[in-house]
Amino acid sequence: MQHLILGQTLAFERAPLAGDPAGAARHERQGAVLVEGGTIRAVGPAEALRAAHPAAAVEDFGEALLLPGFIDAHAHYPQTAIIASWGKRLIDWLNLYTFPEELRFGDSAHAAVIAARYFDLTLAHGTTSTVSYCTVQPESVEAYFAEAARRGLRAWGGKTCMDRNAPAGLTDTAQSAYDDSKRLIDRWHGQGRLSYVVTPRFSPTSSREQLAALGALWAERRGCLMQTHLSEQVDEVAWVRDLFPEARDYLDTYEAAGLLGPGALFGHAIHLTGRERARLREAGAGLVHCPTSNTFIGSGLFDLAGLAAEGQRIGLATDTGGGSSFSMLRTMAAAYEVAQLRGMALHPAVLLWLATEGNARLLGVDDRIGRLAPGLEADLVALDLASTPAIAQRADRAGDIWEAIFPTIMMGDDRAVAGVWVAGTRVKEKTRPASADP
Ligand code: GUN
Ligand code: ZN
Repeated sequence: MQHLILGQTLAFERAPLAGDPAGAARHERQGAVLVEGGTIRAVGPAEALRAAHPAAAVEDFGEALLLPGFIDAHAHYPQTAIIASWGKRLIDWLNLYTFPEELRFGDSAHAAVIAARYFDLTLAHGTTSTVSYCTVQPESVEAYFAEAARRGLRAWGGKTCMDRNAPAGLTDTAQSAYDDSKRLIDRWHGQGRLSYVVTPRFSPTSSREQLAALGALWAERRGCLMQTHLSEQVDEVAWVRDLFPEARDYLDTYEAAGLLGPGALFGHAIHLTGRERARLREAGAGLVHCPTSNTFIGSGLFDLAGLAAEGQRIGLATDTGGGSSFSMLRTMAAAYEVAQLRGMALHPAVLLWLATEGNARLLGVDDRIGRLAPGLEADLVALDLASTPAIAQRADRAGDIWEAIFPTIMMGDDRAVAGVWVAGTRVKEKTRPASADP
């Protein structure tokens, strides 16, 4: 059965990071996406696709903007219930809010409730793929992957490993981290749309032995990604210096353990030395920008323009619940604001590309998701570009598609998400968007 989703389409033809960003995408004002069997079959003008596929069922989204579903490249689903916790910086925030909540995830029932709530929230915001830390307890991984599988989502996750500087109920050991992670990889990695990510939390909570054990595991299971945190706050960097006096810098604590290479994802990466930047680029590692988290926890201003100019691989993420939103729209807005504070205005094309194709490239799956192109999986979002009176009145003045989109990036939320499709099946339906034709 074929169906045709009608709306404005925006399909990137090249990365907008270099050259004229506005010219990086093809815009079709009356466009359509043809979907069949969970896959995008065609993207093009609505009239031509309707004529070529008269039997296709039509879903008319009017002037809503059809895009690939958003991808969140770094999140902590177990922190869903403690998002927006007041008043602390990173280490105190972990100890006061995060660790007590994560302790509850040994209870499979709690983990299942939060996993379901998390995916309800991410999907409502148009995010169709997530890369999440779980907790140290394997039950949290089971709950995450089971819920993602139930919903047919392409999702990444891994057991967070910590063997020091955390409460007793949240620590494993070098050996059990290796054993549990390996068992979970063999159980979940490559099952349907699921992928495992080797996940040491960060150097302050892992011994050298644990980092080395996870480096060894990653070498054995190179098809998996690896994720951790790097240089988020100045105090944290100083703590790592105390804990690892032999290391050249923070990145070296991972590099020495075999945890640097293509497929390594480093969250935050704000306070980097020149050596770290050079090694990250040489290694082809990914840096994941988490702007709402960086402002909320007071971490600092990610150097997106400088890092992109030197050829780093960069992704964009919420970092919920250190991040203060489940929305990739809000995350794009925060990235814009952080870049402005560094003297750089990011074009909306760059923001949208990072949240879709950029993140797909970072995860090595841009042949599957993150683009509006034939052959890709039909994870899609329809954005109402007039979802509130404030947005509508500004969009009404727009001179081109980028000006029409920017108010939704800056002021939009889940009300802007008019439709969401997972592998071709619609999972969110709002009443007909305000901007749809009568
Ligand atoms: N560094 C180590 N763990 C965390 C976490 O859960 N959130 C954030 N923002 N930073 C971290
Ligand atoms: Zn994080």
